[in-house]
Amino acid sequence: MSTLPSTQKAVALPAKRAPLIEISAPVYPPAAGEVVVHVQWTASSPLDLHRADGGLLISSYPAQQGSGGAAGIVVAVGASGDLKGLQVGDRVSAFAFHGGKEANQQEYITIPAYLASKIPEGIPLQAAVTVPVNLITVFHSVTADLELDLPWPIPQNWASQAATKPILVWGASSSVGIFAIQVLRHWGYTRVLAVSSSKHHKYLHSLGATQCFDYTRPGVVSEILDYVKDRDEPKVPYILDCIGSLHGSLEPLSKIAQRDSRVAVMLPVIVKDATEDEEPVYEMDVSNCLPGKWADGAVVHGVRTHFYLQNEFFKETLQPEILPALLAEGIIQPNNQRIVEGSTMVERAQNALSLLRSKAVSGEKLVYRVSDA
Ligand SMILES: NC(=O)c1ccc[n+]([C@@H]2O[C@H](COP(=O)([O-])OP(=O)(O)OC[C@H]3O[C@@H](n4cnc5c(N)ncnc54)[C@H](OP(=O)(O)O)[C@@H]3O)[C@@H](O)[C@H]2O)c1
Repeated sequence: MSTLPSTQKAVALPAKRAPLIEISAPVYPPAAGEVVVHVQWTASSPLDLHRADGGLLISSYPAQQGSGGAAGIVVAVGASGDLKGLQVGDRVSAFAFHGGKEANQQEYITIPAYLASKIPEGIPLQAAVTVPVNLITVFHSVTADLELDLPWPIPQNWASQAATKPILVWGASSSVGIFAIQVLRHWGYTRVLAVSSSKHHKYLHSLGATQCFDYTRPGVVSEILDYVKDRDEPKVPYILDCIGSLHGSLEPLSKIAQRDSRVAVMLPVIVKDATEDEEPVYEMDVSNCLPGKWADGAVVHGVRTHFYLQNEFFKETLQPEILPALLAEGIIQPNNQRIVEGSTMVERAQNALSLLRSKAVSGEKLVYRVSDA
């Protein structure tokens, strides 16, 4: 076990909408059941922007940044506890989200072993780091919010009762959407309808989308309803809103969902986007969104992936076992990566925020090196 430094560089927000700063943060030795990961790569997620510009989920400043996942090398392990088979030297990715010693934009994170996944051989760290946050989001939202089954391991001859029901993935070219298509295909859901701009349709078909629609076309809602007409009641029983934009996704979806449709919406609902000059407006309670516009009996849920640990089976298996197996078997492809450059960790993190703010991210994940070394 290598000797850990006592402090490290970390990226922090000094205040809402203020430029990021570098701070010195403690490095925490591992307690029982914990591992310390020397982080090489992190991914930037829209939550980084929601935090930076909207102060979302921040209770005090300076607030350490990093919600997009981490990938690196295990450099220390707890002396006891369930380490999920991890050892010093293992390459791992992590979806660790409790902040402080788990905050992803710092050189060392100290995390419970159940929040880490051993990366299969042949998959670079910069690719692996794109996976954990939104793959876990898909498992959580599909099972907890849409109430569809994703059994593990998949029993022989198993088929979901909803296998032939339409499942609409709105925002299918987002990182969440790309994983949703792959997961639904693997678990045998055969009518996965993907909504994205048309430049991604070929790729989404290749991942398993049954039919693709272009959300930039004015008639997209009618096109979807025409496609499913006369087949099911409700016509679209399952809807995964991977975007959570009041006007960009919820409004059209409120015209598609019917009685008994289940709709899972990625929170926060973005009422107004962040711009360089203006604060964003977010809503965390979906029942406040478009009241009176949803069909009676439509079930609309806000997704909060941070609660996935309440599912004891997922807590123990999702990151340690299921994610590595899906990657090793090629069932899940990592997101395409766009490397964010900058001369320091803070500069790279700041550049990533600018790309998110200007909506430059399309069918890819922003990734960047954590250490300046
Ligand atoms: N609450 C939770 O548990 C949770 C978990 C994960 C993510 N989220 C949230 O989910 C959202 C998506 O995250 P992400 O990382 O997947 O985002 P992302 O990959 O950065 O999203 C970019 C994609 O969004 C698509 N898009 C933008 N506006 C759209 C619209 N009106 N309709 C359809 N597609 C649209 C773009 O599609 P085109 O390029 O095709 O135009 C682009 O590919 C974020 O707000 C994030 O914070 C929430």
